[in-house]
Amino acid sequence: MRARLKNIRWEAEGINSYILEPVDGGLMPAFEPGAHVDVQLAPGLARSYSLVNDPAIRGYYEIAVHHAIDSRGGSRHIHEQWRVGQILDISDPKNNFPMVEDASHTVMIAGGIGITPMLPMIARLEKLGRSWELHYVAASPDRAAYVDRLSDHDRVEIAYDGIPGGRRLDLAAICAAAPADAHLYCCGPGGMLNAFVATNCDRPKGHAHIEYFSAETEVATEGGYTLELAKSGKTISVDEGETMLDALLSAGVDIGFACAEGICGTCEVRVLGGVPDHRDHFLTDEDKAANTSIMVCCSGSKTATLVLDI
Ligand code: FES
Repeated sequence: MRARLKNIRWEAEGINSYILEPVDGGLMPAFEPGAHVDVQLAPGLARSYSLVNDPAIRGYYEIAVHHAIDSRGGSRHIHEQWRVGQILDISDPKNNFPMVEDASHTVMIAGGIGITPMLPMIARLEKLGRSWELHYVAASPDRAAYVDRLSDHDRVEIAYDGIPGGRRLDLAAICAAAPADAHLYCCGPGGMLNAFVATNCDRPKGHAHIEYFSAETEVATEGGYTLELAKSGKTISVDEGETMLDALLSAGVDIGFACAEGICGTCEVRVLGGVPDHRDHFLTDEDKAANTSIMVCCSGSKTATLVLDI
């Protein structure tokens, strides 16, 4: 879908928000809290960004982008190249972080730019009159985006962990205080998500939800295996130093991808034979154990041959 970049706004140090409107002046496709869009930045360069605005607002999408110091091209491209008025190529909304709307209580925990999916969740929960709380940590006040939008709510805790006398969120205390049937959502840096997962291991299945915005596992570039493509009949070697996605694209295979780091699920392909070396954060542990699909952007192969359903 084509969208026009209508406005760019400074939200915090290193974080801008971007308002995208329909080119034809109509409505944007509806989305649910937690959804993201894939933004095509250049040929072979796409990134996923959470939608920030209230889902009830259909005239535009808002995304926010943190200019990562170690950017592999996505956030740097946006901060340096995007100009108001330009036309962008974005996907329809996708949701890997859906919210259970009828939970007795919702606990949201956000680190840094991980605040973004929480804002439409809060908008929806407020509209439904549901019980919720938010715990938000940023390095410092000038790096905390959207604090102004949270100031009306008394159920918000904000902590700063990068200033003298600052503090981290006490995840164990937050989780211990949450009602047994509450749903908990966490989006933030990998270390925070790992700590959250460890803290919530005794929660009922499906009550603790996490969203990665950058992967910290290593993408598989060991190579040394062969791909057999069942539909096209192609055989492709994956060499040391390249990803499975690199090898597929080099061989002219048309395959969709966005985040390129195992988060968004865009590049999922069915596996018909062999054993993948799963490196993604998208598939569940059960999915990975079943070995019936693979994220080709980041995963490798434990067997000499992997047969894919493409
Ligand atoms: S492109 Fe996002 S998971 Fe592979």
